[in-house]
Amino acid sequence: MNLDAQHPLSSGLTSASRLVRAYQGTRPDVTPVWFMRQAGRSLPEYRELRVGTRMLDACLDPEMASEITLQPVRRHRVDAGIFFSDIVVPLRLVGVDVEIVPGRGPVLGTATRTAADVDALVALDPSILDDALLPIRQAVTRTTDELGETPLIGFAGAPFTLAAYLVEGGPSKDHIHARTLMHGDPEAWARLMAWTAEVTGRFLRAQVLAGASAAQLFDSWAGALSLDDYARYVAPASAQAISHVRDLTYAEPAETGEPLDAPVAPGVDEPEPEPALRNVPVVHFGVGTGELLKEMYDIGADVVGVDYRVPLDEANRRLGGVVPLQGNVDPALLAAPWPVLEAHVRDVLERGRTAPAHVLNLGHGVPPETDPDVLTRLVELVHQAGTTASAG
Ligand code: CP3
Repeated sequence: MNLDAQHPLSSGLTSASRLVRAYQGTRPDVTPVWFMRQAGRSLPEYRELRVGTRMLDACLDPEMASEITLQPVRRHRVDAGIFFSDIVVPLRLVGVDVEIVPGRGPVLGTATRTAADVDALVALDPSILDDALLPIRQAVTRTTDELGETPLIGFAGAPFTLAAYLVEGGPSKDHIHARTLMHGDPEAWARLMAWTAEVTGRFLRAQVLAGASAAQLFDSWAGALSLDDYARYVAPASAQAISHVRDLTYAEPAETGEPLDAPVAPGVDEPEPEPALRNVPVVHFGVGTGELLKEMYDIGADVVGVDYRVPLDEANRRLGGVVPLQGNVDPALLAAPWPVLEAHVRDVLERGRTAPAHVLNLGHGVPPETDPDVLTRLVELVHQAGTTASAG
């Protein structure tokens, strides 16, 4: 399905941005940069705005969600906004009892441990989401109107990471109950994964249709799985989740200076070239997923997000040298002395040069205690270092 003509990708507002170019596999002059969790507690303006509002209420208030999304873009001049929301928002919107507890993360009213629990959950109809997603669509449209040429990245949790919260009932270290259900009752597990893929896929699609120029699927906890378990019990559901945005296309507007209706040479009656039809780029990211990079790409992603454990040149080698990469500055180094961080960032850029294209990011989210001025300085460094590199 084609995105409508007003969408920032179809209208040409964001289709030639550094971020979208890099995601499409073309190396721009300057390496684009944004940070996972760039919105949030590292920013005093965020902490001030959030006083008295619970996390999920903030996510469902279009004005607040939009303002929080824009805060780090204004402050750090990053190359993209990431929509302020949470992976559990669509669960709440279909009626799951979930709350985000500060300092802990998502906590469920009940844990989904048995086949009967799974069937009770699956009885919630994912299609009721489409109406309930109105505040999400409003927040995205509001945000992209403000962002102009800066693309907005929409996101969703991958089915496994969401299922891990549902089965455990909250945050956990090894996701033991989830992995037990996966093996102990593979049929119930498959029903749970299919339902979760539907819910999270619809959430992602709504963001893209409303104006997001790229989509990122977070499988934060997939690193807990063996390669075989990932391939058998998880990858099909992640592919299903992504399929909700895989069919969304846009016609690449003509390059600046070459309007679509440029006159052809007199006497030559050539048909106008068809503009290239492109997909909305999809990034797939996980933590501790160095062994799964190939499988994570193969579910239908365009870009692979790499955490800080695998150097980008090695990740590129594992992916056969054909996949744009995103990552992978170690978040711990944000609090190290500047020369240490700078040397690390230059090393990440250097290794990123082996890939077809590179979007600089962290290997996981911004730690809440991060000094925001360090992030601003890091953006300047990447923009300046990227320019020098492309000239040489
Ligand atoms: O700036 C951004 O990156 C966009 C916003 C974003 C949030 N959550 C906001 C948020 C994104 C992309 C997420 C995704 C998310 N949520 C993931 C996947 C990414 C990852 O970090 O691995 C996961 C696993 C969650 C679940 C979740 N929500 C956790 C673990 C937490 C932290 C709990 C805590 O207090 O430490 C949340 C809450 C959350 N989501 C916050 C933010 C800004 C903190 C809420 C606050 O300010 O109190």
